[in-house]
Amino acid sequence: MKKRCAAILMVLIFTFVFAAGCGQTSATDDSSNDVRQSVQNTGVPDSKPDSGPESDLGTGIETKDTATEKKIAVVYFSATGTTAEAANLIAKVTGADIFEIVPEEQYTSEDLNYNDDNCRANKEMNDDTARPVIADDLSMVSEYDIIYLGYPIWWGTAPRIVQTFLESYDISQATVHTFCTSGGSGIEKSVEDLQDLYPDVNIADGKRFGAVSEEAVKDWIESIN
Ligand SMILES: Cc1cc2nc3c(=O)[nH]c(=O)nc-3n(C[C@H](O)[C@H](O)[C@H](O)COP(=O)(O)O)c2cc1C
Repeated sequence: MKKRCAAILMVLIFTFVFAAGCGQTSATDDSSNDVRQSVQNTGVPDSKPDSGPESDLGTGIETKDTATEKKIAVVYFSATGTTAEAANLIAKVTGADIFEIVPEEQYTSEDLNYNDDNCRANKEMNDDTARPVIADDLSMVSEYDIIYLGYPIWWGTAPRIVQTFLESYDISQATVHTFCTSGGSGIEKSVEDLQDLYPDVNIADGKRFGAVSEEAVKDWIESIN
């Protein structure tokens, strides 16, 4: 009888200990689930839009925007800085890259003294074949979709170095907006002359800046977009 009671007691103790052990394991699993749950609810889903493969959705939109974005350049010649001022403002307003047409032989004030028939500028303008050499390689202009092309008016039209530029580089892919500064002459004749000489160049319009200002530049850019 004693042995039987001891056996029953042993079975009861074993059952109790086993049940308690299982209970502990189950509690541990639940708590680790809680931890995973909190990670899922906080870090992972929140971080998805910013990083990791699923953020490709965001990158995709950006890429689409970038793909449709047009490359814009401002290309200009300026002998005494006035057209340069307009060019810099256009680049600022449009966010364009800017390239200066720099003559290999810079113009001195004597060269620009148009009251002297023999000054360099006048001699060039009187010679259809004059093509002042450009100092730098500007071949990258062929990659731009929109080009703002600026120059001062010399004897009613564009300086010869603009012709050097247009004969040196192919910009037929671009829409060209010309701009100028002058003592009073308009840009129209220069646009007509350039268009006659270079029919492949797609000149959309032209703008003369009387007073160069950011406001005037903004107004023009808005009017052509
Ligand atoms: C050789 C030469 C010819 C010029 N011819 C004219 C002209 O026909 N009409 C005019 O309004 N201004 C004329 N100008 C004045 C320039 O167009 C004006 O000063 C321009 O703003 C200068 O620009 P820049 O500082 O970018 O060189 C001439 C200037 C030079 C040096």
